[in-house]
Amino acid sequence: MTPLIDPFARPISYLRVSVTDRCDFRCTYCMAEHMQFLPKKDLLTLEELDRLCTAFVRLGVEKLRVTGGEPLVRREIMTFFKAMSRHLETGALKELTLTTNGSQLSRFADDLAALGVRRVNVSLDTLDAAKFQAITRWGRLAQVMDGISAAKAAGLRVKINTVALKGFNEDELFPLLDWCASEGHDLTFIEVMPMGEMGEEMRLDQYWPLKDLRARLAERFTLSELAERTGGPARYVRIEETGQKIGFITPLTHNFCESCNRVRVTCTGELFMCLGQEDNADLRAPLRASRDDVPLEQAIRAAIARKPKGHDFDYSRQKVRGQVTRHMSHTGG
Ligand code: GTP
Ligand code: 5AD
Ligand code: SF4
Repeated sequence: MTPLIDPFARPISYLRVSVTDRCDFRCTYCMAEHMQFLPKKDLLTLEELDRLCTAFVRLGVEKLRVTGGEPLVRREIMTFFKAMSRHLETGALKELTLTTNGSQLSRFADDLAALGVRRVNVSLDTLDAAKFQAITRWGRLAQVMDGISAAKAAGLRVKINTVALKGFNEDELFPLLDWCASEGHDLTFIEVMPMGEMGEEMRLDQYWPLKDLRARLAERFTLSELAERTGGPARYVRIEETGQKIGFITPLTHNFCESCNRVRVTCTGELFMCLGQEDNADLRAPLRASRDDVPLEQAIRAAIARKPKGHDFDYSRQKVRGQVTRHMSHTGG
């Protein structure tokens, strides 16, 4: 079967699938406080998600990341992981993983490890319980810390994702670094992207360019660029003094779209060809119209053929450009 190649000759081998629009937190940069959640009939069933992801695997997807909302609040989600683990067994899938807020990891870490998940990315922007509650609106840091410990105990590698936020976690750069080093977790910083309804002023106030963060690191440590990639957008450096690996996801200061290898499917079966654009294709219709997967595969190919070159996010000259009104939680980052 011909693999998926987009109009810019980029092979598509990474699918991010959102299994729910719900989340038990409401991170301010990701969701509105009062979200209108989707009715159940609109959601793909676990069987439909299986069929859809399996079609992508047939078309050459080798890395599958389960996202949300918060993927681990979807009922019976281990059934879906179990279904996907058969693609690990055949070797068709090289990696099955997830991005989570960590709140449910205490319950699921062992099951995930048993189903072939090797590492998890956990979103954590602060180590301060009061600040954690403020940014997540009502999350409990202790619950997430327990979840992270459970993941480690289950033998999962943990990568902490921290959105760099000016005036919020600038003062926590070194504490976060130290904590990750002592726990053996990798750490990746992310530039905040203009998605959702947050006003321009607040975006600009919060934006902390990672080149500035990196410069602060370089004042204290020797950083060496690593060639290795994880198949995602992060670029990594090693801190020579500690051996620690730090990732940077820099959609604003260093656009990485030229090497994009991924697309996203939402929990209702919309295929988004780019995180930073609104164009999407309905895959639920072909899924529900027929048991035959040929129309589904055709719809996927037709959509990939119009994958855009990249996002248009830009904060320069004190202006936000390229904003999309969709919340990050809609496509799971
Ligand atoms: P690894 O497999 O560990 O490399 O993970 P990943 O970076 O692919 O996935 P993760 O869910 O940890 O991504 C972290 C965040 O990076 C996402 O939630 C997004 O905010 C951002 N991100 C991931 N992929 C893209 C992308 O294609 N474009 C843009 N602009 N941002 C992305
Ligand atoms: N900009 C950058 N990253 C974001 N995330 C959520 N919203 C944004 C945003 N507006 C991150 C979360 C999590 C991942 C799923 O996406 O913190 O790590
Ligand atoms: Fe790919 Fe769009 Fe992300 Fe750029 S912004 S890396 S094109 S998904």
